[in-house]
Amino acid sequence: MSFNALKEKGIPIEKQLRYWHDIAKRKFNKYEVDCYSRTRQILMNGIEVEAWNFKHCFSRFCDDEETMRYLALTKKIEDQQQTTVNWMSPCDQSVLETTLGYEQVAVDLTAWLAQNEPDDYVRETFNFGLLEDFDHLYRYSQWAYMIHGVNPDDIVQAQTDIMLSRPTQNHHNDNVLRLRKHYDKMTASPQTKVNIMTLVAGEQQTHNYYAEHGMEYGNHTLRETFAEIKDVEEEHVNMYESLADPTESFYEKALLHEFTEVCNYYTCYQDEVDDMMKPVWELFLAQELGHLEHAAKLFKEHEKRDPEEVIGSEIVIPCHFESQKEYVRNILENEIEKRLGTDKDYTTIDKLPEDWSSYQAQKTLNKEGSPTECTIHLIKEAKDRDIIIADEKLMKEAPKLLKRGLQPEAQAPDTVTVEEYKEMASETFEF
Ligand SMILES: [Fe+2]
Ligand SMILES: [Fe+2]
Ligand SMILES: [Fe+2]
Ligand SMILES: [Fe+2]
Repeated sequence: MSFNALKEKGIPIEKQLRYWHDIAKRKFNKYEVDCYSRTRQILMNGIEVEAWNFKHCFSRFCDDEETMRYLALTKKIEDQQQTTVNWMSPCDQSVLETTLGYEQVAVDLTAWLAQNEPDDYVRETFNFGLLEDFDHLYRYSQWAYMIHGVNPDDIVQAQTDIMLSRPTQNHHNDNVLRLRKHYDKMTASPQTKVNIMTLVAGEQQTHNYYAEHGMEYGNHTLRETFAEIKDVEEEHVNMYESLADPTESFYEKALLHEFTEVCNYYTCYQDEVDDMMKPVWELFLAQELGHLEHAAKLFKEHEKRDPEEVIGSEIVIPCHFESQKEYVRNILENEIEKRLGTDKDYTTIDKLPEDWSSYQAQKTLNKEGSPTECTIHLIKEAKDRDIIIADEKLMKEAPKLLKRGLQPEAQAPDTVTVEEYKEMASETFEF
């Protein structure tokens, strides 16, 4: 179906205010919700937080009356949308259960984006980050069980594997090495622009969620685990945002933000199976079309350019959720040794120079141990082994994957060695 967001009629921005009961009333049932309804809810919260943040940033650099009016009116709407979406989380969903949802978003969203990304370099960057979030899901899964007795599969509902990957202790870098080459705003496709903006919003909110909630647990190693993974999410925001062309003006970025919101709500509306959520996506799509119309008008006036040059004339699909096990397995088997190169490129462990600057960062951060390694020692203490949930063939490969994925240099003193891992992998985990 063809859908040109610039030609569709939305709700005028003056008519978008809603009332408290409508803003805050909806909650899903954590036992019944489809895992991909939850991932949509988590992602759209991130999209709204980014939209709201960006508009405040724009306002602080803006001295144009009409633009300030558009920003003032729509900031309030983005904020109301954010409340409605985020507050669908029920109060009995624990921080760790929500956290598993966040990492499921990261894995299955990034895998979808990578497969639909026309730019090879951007795709390679998505695949690089994908394996890291995949390892986070594995580490947090141990905690969901240890703290709440939760089987992580109850959250991911057999759609996403739970499996070790490039070990989290190796995700810490010299943050300068994370900076990537950016696309060219004149030649990049709208799909690339929307893909990147969607992922930045998701990763940023993941970071914010860990920042705001990791301290809510009393267990010291779990607090440190949240701190450690939060640091990687900072690197992910840093990495993905650097892919976008920094010479896009505020007006161009505003246009892209509204278009990204339209595309995401459009996809959510198309895909949604939850009767409570579907009308929300439909309403917010209509609101975002109103925002987009305004942003496009301002862009034309201030930049004297046609908005179609930036966002094209077709909707793009940035957030379709479906099981990506096969794709992720393939990347896992082929790219677990990958590391950041020194020239905004990628390399492998065996080719790292002795003075690779991330070694220093890792030695400092993991000096007294890596909490995500300690996590595995703790679950082994309690249950003889770790939780992994995947098909048998992949489960059997875990020790081999660890051997390939773990850097020999700059290892944390409490690293689970390949020998230790082999021994524990011969046990069976009993829930
Ligand atoms: Fe919004
Ligand atoms: Fe993550
Ligand atoms: Fe991430
Ligand atoms: Fe918006």
